[in-house]
Formats: sequence, C-alpha cells, structure tokens
Amino acid sequence: AIERTLSIIKPDAVAKNVIGQIYARFEAAGLKIAAARMIHLSRAEAEQFYGVHKERPFFKDLVDFMISGPVMVQVLEGENAILKNRELMGATDPKKAASGTIRADFADSIDANAVHGSDAGETAQVEISFFFPGLNIYAR
Ligand code: CMP
Repeated sequence: AIERTLSIIKPDAVAKNVIGQIYARFEAAGLKIAAARMIHLSRAEAEQFYGVHKERPFFKDLVDFMISGPVMVQVLEGENAILKNRELMGATDPKKAASGTIRADFADSIDANAVHGSDAGETAQVEISFFFPGLNIYAR
C-alpha cells in the first residue's frame, strides 16, 4: 500500500552537509518528499517528540543531541514507505548497520545516528501531525 512516514535528518547529518545525498537515496528507492521543513527544535519540543523514551537512560543525551543544531524533517510517501525507509536507514546503532545503509555511511554513534524514521503506521501518523499539523491529505 502507499504509505507516508516521518523522516528526520538529525543535527549531525545536517552539519555534515549531506541532506542532498540522503534525499537522493530516498528518491532512488522510489520515495517522494511529500512535505519538508528545517527546524531547530526547542528542548520542550524534542522532549515531547521523544516522549515514549522519557524513562530510558539515554533520554537526556538524546534530547541534548537533537537540539544541538537544526534538523531537516520530511514526510516520505510511497509503496511500503515505513519499512522501506527503515531499510534505507539501517540499524539504530551504526556499528550494527548493514553496509550501504544511511547510518552505516553517515552516522557516528547511536546518538549521532544521522536519521530518524517512524517505526509503524500509528507512530507515523502521530509523528507527521507533530511536525505538519495542518497537512492536508488528498486522494489521487
Ligand atoms: P531514533 O530512531 O531517533 O529513536 C530514538 C533514538 O534514541 C535513537 O534513534 C537513537 O539515536 C537514540 N538512542 C540512544 N541510545 C539508544 C539505545 N540504547 N536504544 C535505542 N535508541 C537509543
């Protein structure tokens, strides 16, 4: 089915100037950029976005990192977009990410891991409305 998923290019990858290289991978895999914005998150916004992780030991470091610079946020649209994006990203820990994946090629650590992608349909909807609250979805 045609799906939409939320993708974030994190501060490390934005600082490395590889937004275009990462977009090229989305496009080559048949994913369309359906919406996009660059934003420097406030601490409150980052804490809210990652709210499901707030009891985890890495929460503070994750939030500190995500507000360390601007991020590029996009809605990706295409056949099987949620899983396809997760395959393109590779494992959360870049040391475990398969070669040729975004994290294997651009990430430095489990925190500075270049990209985020929604993990399921439910999360994708919540995450898309977080960054694009007014996004209208039209049948085509
Ligand atoms: P992300 O997909 O953005 O979702 C939560 C983030 O927490 C994850 O990518 C990692 O960058 C970060 N993180 C740090 N430590 C861990 C860990 N032990 N397990 C999962 N995520 C972690």
